[in-house]
Amino acid sequence: DGDSRAAEISAPEAPAPEALAPEVPAPLGLLAELTHRCPLHCPYCSNPVELERRSGELDTATWTRVLSEAAALGVLQVHLSGGEPTARRDLEQIVAHCAEVGLYSNLITAGVNLTRARLEALADRGLDHVQLSVQGPDAAGNDRIAGLTGAFAQKLELAGHVRALGLPLTLNCVIHRHNIDGLEQVIELALALGAHRLEIAHAQYYGWALRNRSALMPQRAQVEAAMATLERARSAHQGRLVIDAVVPDYYARLPKPCMGGWGRRSLNVTPSGKVLPCHAAETLPGLVFDNVRDRPLAEIWYRGSAFEAYRGTAWMPEPCRTCERREIDWGGCRCQALALTGDAANTDPACHKSPHHARIHSLAETEADEDTDFAYRGYSKSKA
Ligand code: SF4
Ligand code: FES
Repeated sequence: DGDSRAAEISAPEAPAPEALAPEVPAPLGLLAELTHRCPLHCPYCSNPVELERRSGELDTATWTRVLSEAAALGVLQVHLSGGEPTARRDLEQIVAHCAEVGLYSNLITAGVNLTRARLEALADRGLDHVQLSVQGPDAAGNDRIAGLTGAFAQKLELAGHVRALGLPLTLNCVIHRHNIDGLEQVIELALALGAHRLEIAHAQYYGWALRNRSALMPQRAQVEAAMATLERARSAHQGRLVIDAVVPDYYARLPKPCMGGWGRRSLNVTPSGKVLPCHAAETLPGLVFDNVRDRPLAEIWYRGSAFEAYRGTAWMPEPCRTCERREIDWGGCRCQALALTGDAANTDPACHKSPHHARIHSLAETEADEDTDFAYRGYSKSKA
């Protein structure tokens, strides 16, 4: 009718992404943090200490729109994450929509409260991959770190269902002082469960993990032993199990190319719709984050001020500015630079060229000797 014609005529034309910023590559991956709700309480969680409540979460229609926009933008893979994404009752619709728009969907789950029937329903709707976390290689250790009795048994059961349904399985274990000595058993567990990939993810100190750093930091000798175990396991199980791992930052000589470079490969959408260049970006002062409720994803990716802030190399100070690795690691991690040097624009102190480098080694060694209790992840009591 006439009204809708008028609306069509006056609607602004969506700018073509390449016109927005031809030098910027399209993102490949999107981390969809569907919710911060989670039955587990892991102290190493990288979610912010102030967790988003259910009332602030995006609804189904907004998520499906965002996923369509992501596919149009060039995203290939969506990691359905959280919190625990299965806490969303509309996960089936979200998965179905990923399949509809041609996005490869990876469910990142703690494997608790996910029945075989529901997993089957997700597989029927086109779920491509499951990434299951374990907190340790046995029930006692796993459940203590997860803060939930019986979690380990449920995870093993779920892994069986994933394989029985023919879905590829990645096992993920965040490594820290309390489970690093069990690395050999984690690898055996991955093999026993029929996992295709094992991610040995040394704790990254953001959000809850930063709060718990002195309770989690491993000792240098533990890290060295773990690296040797990994090397042995990689060659022993070649062709059967892919093992991904990186050196933990605080004991590293070179930084990780965090997120594959700021605003280069991937983006995060928080439960309430904020679009972040990385999961900890909200800790950086002075950045303004666009929300998918207000602006198309392509515009946010190509033109959002938070994405432009540290994209490329122009923002870099010395020693990064003239370093031959500046387009390899992109200066490391902005959030770590902020947390450890007070300035997000500094070289990541995990780099041996950073003037702060020696200090993070000694900080790690001091904290590794501290006997600190876990602050388990959860909603703050004052607002509960
Ligand atoms: Fe990377 Fe900067 Fe260190 Fe060079 S100086 S290795 S670019 S962090
Ligand atoms: Fe934010 Fe690395 S976590 S840049």
